[in-house]
Amino acid sequence: MVDVADGIPQGKALDQWESAPVELFDTRVIGSNGYEETAGSDIVVITAGIARKPGMSRDDLLNTNAGIVKSVSEQIKATSPNAIIIVVSNPLDIMCHVAKQVTGFPRERVIGMAGVLDTARYRSFLAEALDVSVQDIQAMVLGGHGDTMVPLTSYTTISGIPIRQFMSDEQLAPIVQRARDGGAEIVKYLKTGSAYYAPSSGAVEMVDAIVRDRKRILPCAAWLEGEYGMSGLYLGVPCKLGRKGLEQIIEVELTSDERAALERSADAVREPMKTLSF
Ligand code: 2OP
Repeated sequence: MVDVADGIPQGKALDQWESAPVELFDTRVIGSNGYEETAGSDIVVITAGIARKPGMSRDDLLNTNAGIVKSVSEQIKATSPNAIIIVVSNPLDIMCHVAKQVTGFPRERVIGMAGVLDTARYRSFLAEALDVSVQDIQAMVLGGHGDTMVPLTSYTTISGIPIRQFMSDEQLAPIVQRARDGGAEIVKYLKTGSAYYAPSSGAVEMVDAIVRDRKRILPCAAWLEGEYGMSGLYLGVPCKLGRKGLEQIIEVELTSDERAALERSADAVREPMKTLSF
């Protein structure tokens, strides 16, 4: 675990390592202010960057976090040139772009964690509303990690049964909106930081899919090269994750409304890219 603040990664890593006898893992957790200890990593998760304060959008973090992600990416490139990078820093889709550009890694090895989190929020709110297990809710949220994200209601099912058999459009709409605003809802409570637990669970699910070569299909931010008719940007799309990282982008059929929403979301990712400097 690496951080610029002296003592913080050392203390957190030690705290985590001390949980090992209870959690039953033997992986040594090491905290450091430098990258030497991370050399030769197979996977690196980048969470570095400042978090939003209440009232800020993820895009308000753009150039500060671009500088931080640039510096982190340069060091990963130098010490772990074969690593697969999972980006969590915000604004997510653009920070993936920075990491890819700075490292020069292929798109298979630079992937963003947002869709798993946004989908987890959507699923948790649905489970609450329907009083069913979260485990039985299948869903996918695509698009950029921002206000324009696109929950695919046409693919939302409860144990394979379409959501429409449980809820009307009117009942579903506020749940979709709450998922879109999920990050801001947490920031409003915390005031000085953003969400921790659900984003970490999302990153872990992606790491697990890669390390165990599970070929999971998860919504992730991927560099598009013609998929969904778009190129030259990161956007949340269904991805197959395995040992090679991003192994495939799945192109699902979308309703005309969902396609239009995905285009709008792509525009919302492209717009702040115009002022990006790093
Ligand atoms: C979130 O949605 C931090 O972007 C992250 O909570």
